Amino acid sequence: MSAKPLKAGILGATGTVGQRFINLLSTNPTFEIAVLGASERSAGKKYNDATNWKLADRMPENVKALTVCVCDPAHFSSCDVVFSGLDANIAGEIEKSFIEAEFPVFSNAKNFRMYDRVPLVIPLVNPEHLAVVSEQQKEFNLKKGFIVTNSNCAVTGVAVALKALQLKFGDISHVLATTMQAISGAGYPGVPSLDIMDNVVPFIGGEEPKFEAELMKLLGTVNQTCTGFDSKSNMKVSASCNRVPVVDGHLASVSIKFASANPPSVDQVVECLQNYKSESQILGCYSAPEIAIDVRMESDRPQPRLDRMNGNGMSVTVGRVRECSVFDIKFSVLAHNTIIGAAGASILNAEVAYKMGLVFPK
Ligand SMILES: NC(=O)c1ccc[n+]([C@@H]2O[C@H](COP(=O)([O-])OP(=O)(O)OC[C@H]3O[C@@H](n4cnc5c(N)ncnc54)[C@H](OP(=O)(O)O)[C@@H]3O)[C@@H](O)[C@H]2O)c1
Repeated sequence: MSAKPLKAGILGATGTVGQRFINLLSTNPTFEIAVLGASERSAGKKYNDATNWKLADRMPENVKALTVCVCDPAHFSSCDVVFSGLDANIAGEIEKSFIEAEFPVFSNAKNFRMYDRVPLVIPLVNPEHLAVVSEQQKEFNLKKGFIVTNSNCAVTGVAVALKALQLKFGDISHVLATTMQAISGAGYPGVPSLDIMDNVVPFIGGEEPKFEAELMKLLGTVNQTCTGFDSKSNMKVSASCNRVPVVDGHLASVSIKFASANPPSVDQVVECLQNYKSESQILGCYSAPEIAIDVRMESDRPQPRLDRMNGNGMSVTVGRVRECSVFDIKFSVLAHNTIIGAAGASILNAEVAYKMGLVFPK
């Protein structure tokens, strides 16, 4: 680690994910918040005045007086790295301009996730996919710039649990997942209160195809030439995504079938999940949780209100592991959607990239 922290810019700093970035980066020893960007609506205002702060922790003192700027690379010249919590409607063009201006970009937006040369990384799942960054730089003639994305927040917890099981027991052939997703997953102000109070909305636009495609890429491998990814395209995935009246934390009920004719027992699955350690933990990254998967044995866990802050929101929680009468095994899994499902994942991806020498000071 360098003596001086790397200077970080945040795109979309005023939004739900942007606020999480600020909250988490304010105590991170590897990065120091340097520049905040948002839309023209916010530009020119002090961060304190531009932002409708929604987190329980107080807004860090050192960002209150920073002037928010528009998301133009020229304003970010002091930054070594850029984190993006931009709305997907505008993220594509803006992030592209930052990559071309030679910034390493760690993004939460969907726009580049499925591109061939773009790593889609959950740091508790597949940090080894960062190996393709150098190929991306070669293809686009970049020296320092690149983009790494993290996944849709609904798939995060499921991918962590399935990666642990796939490593130990081999391929998973079928996945059926039903999500119960928090309101904050839609950003702010998100779903109108009259639509979500006393209700469940059994549709989230575009979410199910993203879940299915991203899970295959996340559980896939870097190809032999290290130029892209071999997705788990033989794995059959079916997701049903629902919005529920919970503030933070996406819960999913998951049933899986293993490719093997001799699937593991419930006890073997529990032991495997409990013992799972990801590369980002082994590397000793600051934001990596001590426990990747916290397995609860009580019959009524995990629950969003009780378990979402496990490992400071960086762990996922699994419970109700049991036999499935249709497939092999079923369980519930919970992940904090704005921490390990968004800003926390981006920051930990950047910490891994820093240890790999992909991100460095100017
Ligand atoms: N919420 C989650 O749990 C979650 C999880 C994973 C991924 N994501 C993804 O992360 C991204 C951000 O989501 P969010 O929930 O934080 O959304 P959000 O609360 O709506 O925040 C959007 C941010 O984008 C900025 N923005 C909007 N239009 C802009 C423009 N034309 N130029 C520059 N900045 C602009 C906004 O700035 P102003 O305040 O100035 O309008 C705000 O800072 C999205 O791509 C989303 O899909 C979200």
